[in-house]
Amino acid sequence: MKLIFASGNKHKLEELQAKITPPFEVVSMRALGFKGEIAEPGVTLEENAKIKADFIYDMFGQSTFADDSGLEIDALDGRPGVYSARFAGENCSFDDNNKKVLKLLKGKANRKARFRTVIHLILIGEHHSFEGVVNGQIIDEYRGSDGFGYDPIFIPEGHEKTFAEMSLAEKNEISHRAKAVQKLIDFLGKSDV
Ligand code: IMP
Repeated sequence: MKLIFASGNKHKLEELQAKITPPFEVVSMRALGFKGEIAEPGVTLEENAKIKADFIYDMFGQSTFADDSGLEIDALDGRPGVYSARFAGENCSFDDNNKKVLKLLKGKANRKARFRTVIHLILIGEHHSFEGVVNGQIIDEYRGSDGFGYDPIFIPEGHEKTFAEMSLAEKNEISHRAKAVQKLIDFLGKSDV
């Protein structure tokens, strides 16, 4: 059974195709001919994941899923959250975003934060949602050069290394995205399609 992934991100697609096995087959919206970008006007991760899945489901009428992730910082009332990619402005770099976070947290004692991923699945017309969370804290410097986004300033709970100091395999064992994807896989495994 084909599941369309409503995203243009090739890295995510490859990872999902490796993890999601027959009878399911993950196909990208690109392979089906949609070359555009999907707007993300939602104000929560849940809304944006649903908006993206609905958009592609309406276009192709086949089972579809979409994800949305963000970093939620307690001392910033949950920001950047759904605005994580563009926290420092449209077309900003990862570095611009990290600088903005460190500046806003300067002198603050509460460094608690979490990465959260929401996956919205529309399976034969039925809606399901899966969440993955990794708690941790924001440090006041950059450490490590692997990964992307806020990885150099985030240390997951129970660890000493930032996400950017971990190998991809190490990060994938504990990451928010990996947890949400695992919940999706468990659900698909139990479904009788
Ligand atoms: P997306 O929904 O997966 O595209 O994530 C949106 C934004 O959240 C990214 O552009 C990053 O700024 C941030 N983000 C999501 N996941 C991670 C992660 O694993 N490490 C660092 N930043 C992340």
